[in-house]
Amino acid sequence: MTAQQPTDRPAVSGASDEAIRPMTARPGGPLRGTVKVPGDKSISHRAVMFGGLAVGETRILDVLTGEDVVRTAEAFRALGARVDMEEDGSWRVRGVGIGGLTEPADVLDMGNSGTAARLLLGVLAGHGITAFLTGDASLRKRPMGRVTVPLSMMGAQFTSRSGGRLPLAITGKDEPVPIEYELPVASAQVKSAILLAGLAARGATTVIEPQATRDHTERLLRHFGATVTVEDLETGGRRITVSGQPELTAPADPIRVPADPSSAGFPVVAALIADGSEIFLPNVGLNETRTGLYTTLIEMGAEITIANRRDEGGEPVGDFTVKASALKGIEVPPERAPSMIDEYPILAVAAAYAEGKTVMRGIHELRVKESDRLAAVAALLRENGVTVEDGEDWMIVHGTGQGGTGQGGTGQGGTGKGAAGKGGVPGGGTVETHLDHRIAMSALVLGHAAQNPVRIDDGNAIGTSFPGFVDLMNGLGADIAAD
Ligand code: S3P
Repeated sequence: MTAQQPTDRPAVSGASDEAIRPMTARPGGPLRGTVKVPGDKSISHRAVMFGGLAVGETRILDVLTGEDVVRTAEAFRALGARVDMEEDGSWRVRGVGIGGLTEPADVLDMGNSGTAARLLLGVLAGHGITAFLTGDASLRKRPMGRVTVPLSMMGAQFTSRSGGRLPLAITGKDEPVPIEYELPVASAQVKSAILLAGLAARGATTVIEPQATRDHTERLLRHFGATVTVEDLETGGRRITVSGQPELTAPADPIRVPADPSSAGFPVVAALIADGSEIFLPNVGLNETRTGLYTTLIEMGAEITIANRRDEGGEPVGDFTVKASALKGIEVPPERAPSMIDEYPILAVAAAYAEGKTVMRGIHELRVKESDRLAAVAALLRENGVTVEDGEDWMIVHGTGQGGTGQGGTGQGGTGKGAAGKGGVPGGGTVETHLDHRIAMSALVLGHAAQNPVRIDDGNAIGTSFPGFVDLMNGLGADIAAD
């Protein structure tokens, strides 16, 4: 079999030096068909990273080939691991063993990916080498202090821009100090960074999280042979301990990455709001630390049936059937936020078509994602005629569904008739995406069921997590095109 290095950029790339690519979603009819959603981004990053730290060769199937994961692969290659993409789409990672990464000859550019940057800092904290990290304009704004503070306690040294932001230099330690650390924010990236540094430490490293966050690191580390213990706390949080200096071994069988439940949210909501739709999505990840969007949509009245629940490579998966549904606004419990933290933009789109108000609280973390998502989502909806109230860590969307209170408003045009939507989202606006893939896809989904086209200023970022999104949606019956 011939192997090629995974340096081929996805067709739509998130790289900041790409030409700006405006796109428009025109109102369309029912969506129908089977949707093969790309592999889970969180699991893909981890499978590549842990493969790079393991002894032996790890084979990964259905890995996400989006720009974010390609950045992780490139970084690990620069650090001495081998990552090959086979012609059949599988990836092979030949690892160097814990502590075996070598100094990179150049700056590691993590593109748009917070997960790649923060988890890699954890890995590097356990290596006595110096590396320089940077990222695109979005990533360079994001806070890194949340990982550099605990990693400094373990012995790593950092020189960074103000606020701990990228570009930064890290010098790690071959044997970092094991710590017990209580996370100030519920963040799977911070938890993972500390646990990954803990792999190189002598003794046990413990992270206490205030609320349970996605646990792919814990599951996959165990799959590679590490000892990880997890204790559920009465507060709803967890206490996670990794035993240092294990032998990480490439699993005998390939790791099959489930379809990303976060990416699935875009076609799912598009089908829910477009009359007459019915779509089928096989093999979607059902890890309970990720499925808050589906719990919420079902509470709103969504017809989502999940069948054939099974386990694949230590992660639960199932097949979704989704039918267009009349949605009702609800109050989303704030404690559900970590299990749907990336899904608020697309939930807000569903809420815009629901009857009544949808109230989202406890969502301050949205302000430090690929963009300030709270502000970006509120602007997205207002620009297209939906009434939104928002504050520092909350947002209320006034649905336009029949009987709803939405009044329409600032979208231009506004006289067209909704071809598919149950509600009256006027559309007609142009949405600023701020290099944020989820804002871009949410706006395009809104446009499919709106009364007038919805335009985005730039669709490039979509390729970071969902390469092929536009073709996939158009294959179901949407009408999305670059301007
Ligand atoms: C991720 C954790 C979340 C999420 C991100 C992926 C991960 O970030 O928003 O898209 O793979 O660990 P935080 O840890 O900052 O909440």
